[in-house]
Amino acid sequence: MLKVKDLEVYYGVIAAVRGINFSVKEGQIVTLIGSNGAGKTSTLNAIVNSIKKKGVVDYYGVDIAKLKTHEIVKRGISMVPEGRRVFINLTVDENLRMGAFNNDENFETLRDEMYEIFPRLADRKTQLAGTMSGGEQQMLAIARALMSEPKLLMLDEPSLGLAPKIVGELFEIIKRLKESITILLVEQNAFAALQIADYAYVLENGEIALEDEAKTLLGNDEVRKKYLGG
Ligand SMILES: Nc1ncnc2c1ncn2[C@@H]1O[C@H](COP(=O)(O)OP(=O)(O)OP(=O)(O)O)[C@@H](O)[C@H]1O
Ligand SMILES: [Mg+2]
Repeated sequence: MLKVKDLEVYYGVIAAVRGINFSVKEGQIVTLIGSNGAGKTSTLNAIVNSIKKKGVVDYYGVDIAKLKTHEIVKRGISMVPEGRRVFINLTVDENLRMGAFNNDENFETLRDEMYEIFPRLADRKTQLAGTMSGGEQQMLAIARALMSEPKLLMLDEPSLGLAPKIVGELFEIIKRLKESITILLVEQNAFAALQIADYAYVLENGEIALEDEAKTLLGNDEVRKKYLGG
């Protein structure tokens, strides 16, 4: 579905992503794990062409590297950025409506689907998004992205700042989303990500240090020591 080839991102002379290659198969959860500054966010921003980059982004056989961000979104790639940006002064329901701006005729059906997937949101339809907990806001950010019915959902560190219990709940939901959508999951929380992913790439200083089936990486001693705390 997605094949990224020789991707490079530079900020001035600083190389954030140094010619990486990776792919995402349809129907899978693929995770890109790595510590602070590894180049994860830069990679996602490069895919949606919101920053300068070099390389090929092959999406269903077409190089979308030079398309404008909104054209990429229209083709079915949706990204939930780091730090869950919801509209804090709008209610849950209104946030979902904003997510369906290009998909208005299906709004009600989709919204009801979101409330089924995210029961916590269903209990808070008229609550202002800014008054919800971090975990609830992350769920809303994901639900809002799903309102445009993307084919590929890219999540940038959904676990950031959340308590382990809510991370577990959120990741269970992400795992279930796989039935209907392909997911590229960027995470520092390698343990949580590897548990739900099919395939994983480990990013270090802008390069892919390791890649394998997620299950295999979970059992890899080096990975355990370096990324999973022993
Ligand atoms: N706008 C920018 N200008 C200059 N340098 C940047 C910019 N954005 C990112 N960088 C640098 O690029 C490198 C990769 O950053 P990036 O945000 O992609 O990492 P990350 O893996 O997402 O990290 P984190 O887990 O902390 O979010 C870092 O060294 C960062 O300082
Ligand atoms: Mg980041």
